[in-house]
Amino acid sequence: MLYGVFSDVHSNLEALSVVLDFLDDAGAEAYLFLGDLVGYGPDPDECISRVRALPNLSAIAGNHDLAALGRMDLDWFNQYARAAVVWTRKRISAPNRTFLEGLTARMDAREFTLAHGSPSNPTGEYLLGPAQFENNVALVKAWPLFVGHSHMPLLFRFADSGPGKVDILFLEEREESLRRLSGGGFAPVALNPGSVGQPRDQDRRASCAVYDSVKGAFRVFRLPYDIPAVQGKIRAAGLPEYLALRLDYGQ
Ligand SMILES: [Fe+2]
Repeated sequence: MLYGVFSDVHSNLEALSVVLDFLDDAGAEAYLFLGDLVGYGPDPDECISRVRALPNLSAIAGNHDLAALGRMDLDWFNQYARAAVVWTRKRISAPNRTFLEGLTARMDAREFTLAHGSPSNPTGEYLLGPAQFENNVALVKAWPLFVGHSHMPLLFRFADSGPGKVDILFLEEREESLRRLSGGGFAPVALNPGSVGQPRDQDRRASCAVYDSVKGAFRVFRLPYDIPAVQGKIRAAGLPEYLALRLDYGQ
């Protein structure tokens, strides 16, 4: 199966449209969405509508989605995120709200595991370090584990060099082969496709990935989109200026 994998859309319709067109052209037969459809950006309802319509979609919620539903304390958010959550709450249609309400922040499927932050703390933990990967391994029933939340395209796996060592790769646009276990299935590996609508790795292009479960391969792609159009909408909506500016820098 060829999966289109994407995360952290954050109400950025221009970036989402480019990503979904690309994944469709790439031959995606199914889609994995890793949370944070809304928050920060100017088009929450349209972004939910686009994602809801995808075929063979496995989707989870992020902390911003839960906050928009009133299911997460706003004390966890900085002033910019909080302002966007409050703005977003009034702009989600009833059917799209029902869709969001049906999502959990973690999904244990037969052939993969999805968690927005991490399996142990799906709405709070940023999977960024080796100890975090090790601490979450026992909680995963099926590999790969796909995560979002950090807005960074990353791969975590145990190193060949010795027990207990973890390799963390920053994913460029090349194919990474996943290791197979002799008894079937994949060796422990966590994969983050980066962020569609608000990359934070100093690369302003939208990030997404293709996962080939037959070949055992994962590849990140970076795609330019119309950033000035999104910035214009952010300003017209009266959302914080910082949310427009950061898109220029991929931060
Ligand atoms: Fe996010």
